[in-house]
Amino acid sequence: MQLFAVNGSLSEVECDVLIVNLFQSDTKPQGATGAVDEALSGLVSRIIAEDNFKAKVGDTAVIRTNNAIPAKKIVLVGLGKRETFGLTEIMHASAAAIRACQTLKAKRVATILHGAGQAGFTAYECARATALGAMLGAYEYKKYKMEDDEDCNEILVNIVELSREKIEEIEQGIARAKVVADAVILARDLANEPSNVATPSYLANVARQVASKTEIACQVFDREEIEEQNMGLLLAVSKGSSQEPRFIEMHYEAPSSERKVAIIGKGVTYDTGGYDLKTKAGLYGSHDDMSGAAAVIACMQALAVLEPSVSVLALVPCVENALGSRAMHPGDIYMSREGKSVEINNTDAEGRLILADAISYAREHGATEIIDLATLTGAAITALGRDIAGLFTTSDEMAAKISEAGKYTGENYWRLPLFDDYEDTLKSDVADMKNHGSGEGAAIVAALFIRKFTGGLPWAHLDLTGSIIRKNSPLCRKGCTGVGTGALIEYIMSL
Ligand code: BES
Ligand code: ZN
Ligand code: ZN
Repeated sequence: MQLFAVNGSLSEVECDVLIVNLFQSDTKPQGATGAVDEALSGLVSRIIAEDNFKAKVGDTAVIRTNNAIPAKKIVLVGLGKRETFGLTEIMHASAAAIRACQTLKAKRVATILHGAGQAGFTAYECARATALGAMLGAYEYKKYKMEDDEDCNEILVNIVELSREKIEEIEQGIARAKVVADAVILARDLANEPSNVATPSYLANVARQVASKTEIACQVFDREEIEEQNMGLLLAVSKGSSQEPRFIEMHYEAPSSERKVAIIGKGVTYDTGGYDLKTKAGLYGSHDDMSGAAAVIACMQALAVLEPSVSVLALVPCVENALGSRAMHPGDIYMSREGKSVEINNTDAEGRLILADAISYAREHGATEIIDLATLTGAAITALGRDIAGLFTTSDEMAAKISEAGKYTGENYWRLPLFDDYEDTLKSDVADMKNHGSGEGAAIVAALFIRKFTGGLPWAHLDLTGSIIRKNSPLCRKGCTGVGTGALIEYIMSL
């Protein structure tokens, strides 16, 4: 998709489809949509009345202009209620409108700047949300649809604005959205790849490629080097697989900052569960158990362009949790990098194991705070559903800033408790700890397991399990969502 800011009038712009908008309960369009309605002698108002157009967020109606204005067709999109209008609504409306344009096979689209003059939003904020919504909404994963040659990205979108002074701000908003959208789309592409393609070494190559075009440093440890690094828990998970593990390290150095944020992504490229084997339903789709890894690698691609003011250490332990004669057994005991022993009482609780070794590595390499992103527990889905990801943190500031960051990219986070008493369920008779509790409160217990390795550093854990894949959500029509990527970028840029 190509996006530009264009100075001009919506009623005069030439395009296949013109996108305008409407608030719920407005019977007569106002602002720029009102001007288009006037140019069409009230056609838009008539359609609203005749079709009983409700204008809920993302509702769309197609209107033919019969050459009354240069635009051939109009897509009218709903913005919902004025009282609840925000950046999310701009993104959702923009995404729905672009999808309607795709259905119409439009190649040249002109759009109103959604939200301009509403709720105190600047032209920059509106442009950023309009552009991000359009790019994420248009995305579809079709790499292996060999017979489908339609390119959903072959579309030119002009954001048309009457006032010349706003054009530069709109351009800046588009530029920022593009960097974020490219990263989210990279994360989606990676998470959507099947496990026979996206192996640990594949992810390592992508990380190298991302870094090679930038100032970001990248090094990858292979199995021998992981052994040298004493990452006993990462090695334990990798034992059952013929796919070699990889440990990816990427580093962005800010010129003058004491602060080094470690971002760590769970890179399980396929999770069979091991001897604690998953069900048929659980196995299908478990290639996306590296969604945290994808978000972290993709985030680094964006940070290389945006140049945050803090240093960032990205760590991605990559491994396949397979089943075979070499696989770890329930009851096995392994040593973590930190020297703590862990009894494996559930081989399907593998994510926390690889994260633990990566967290110890981060601490030893100067991290001043840690964020991990992981598809860690089904319990997070039970607790929060699909539209909200779990956020555990030892820092109130991180809680506030990460939740806020998500608002810019259409992600929702809800803080869950690190309830100390539940840590007792991780006590082992034979080792320093077990990797799995009673099964109750499993998202919390998983977070408490990880906390044991953070050494008291400010830390946040995002349990993304519910939000990684969607059938038809406003910003993701099908497949992996790239969740975590946007919030991570915006959080780091807010520091
Ligand atoms: N990758 C899974 C979590 C998951 C569950 C992802 C469902 C996508 C859909 C993780 O490794 C896992 O298996 N977690 C276990 C933890 C349990 C053993 C405490 C789970 O949630 O069942
Ligand atoms: Zn598992
Ligand atoms: Zn897993």
